[in-house]
Amino acid sequence: MDWGIKNRLARIIKPQTGRTVMLAVDHGYFLGPTKKLENVSRTIEPLMNYADALMLTRGILRTSVDPETSVPVVLRVSGGSSIIGEDLSNEVITTSIEDAIRLNVAAIALSIFVGSEYESQTLESLAELVNMGQEFGIPVLAVTAVGKELSKRDSRFLSLACRIAAEFGASFVKTYYCEDFEKVVESCPVPIVIAGGPKLETELDAFEMAHDAINKGAVGVDMGRNIWQNNNPVAMLKAVRAVVHKNASPAEALEIFNKNKK
Ligand code: R5P
Repeated sequence: MDWGIKNRLARIIKPQTGRTVMLAVDHGYFLGPTKKLENVSRTIEPLMNYADALMLTRGILRTSVDPETSVPVVLRVSGGSSIIGEDLSNEVITTSIEDAIRLNVAAIALSIFVGSEYESQTLESLAELVNMGQEFGIPVLAVTAVGKELSKRDSRFLSLACRIAAEFGASFVKTYYCEDFEKVVESCPVPIVIAGGPKLETELDAFEMAHDAINKGAVGVDMGRNIWQNNNPVAMLKAVRAVVHKNASPAEALEIFNKNKK
């Protein structure tokens, strides 16, 4: 692996633990003003100190993030469909590699929609992005998107999607946690982070998911709604950090959450 790619990846996946807690705030690229993310700068300001990386689009980066931040950026560079449109999978590359470099990002991220009508288009985009990333030493995060079909979140489908992403040259992959998650990890030769998905019923549910994913081989989380849709987002992020970086149990994480909540 090229030095630049390794160096940028090490800014995201912390070498001290080999793990990462990414904060995902890119939802607006197809959802618009998501609940509790209406004003992104207000939402992320108290969380910045506890995130290993920030995932977002260039529009939000330029308008809502202090350029003096030291938190590495994972830039979402795919899009093209909205939640009220016909087909969420109809995505293309939305941001040039030159602009990503201008923004000094640590990685670029794109969704692939395996099994959808636009499967080929999104996989071609992944191939193109990896080619560009290789040229300039920027790692690519492939996101195994499922569109509106949340039922696709099983190990058979996610193993297929993650493996294809790795075969195409993604440096790391973001997917969902699922039953038999170890099978997804086993057949994917690059690091995997999990998305949180829609807000779970309790804090403990989120800690259990993060804990089980780490135990089964994920290198971390790229979590959004379960952090910032909680009434105590800082407490939530601190507790998830303990699970990811310190192997805290779900019960210990809940203790940390309760100690830090307002
Ligand atoms: C969705 O497509 C975005 O890529 C989000 O970054 C991702 O789903 C993670 O956020 P959440 O934990 O809210 O699912």
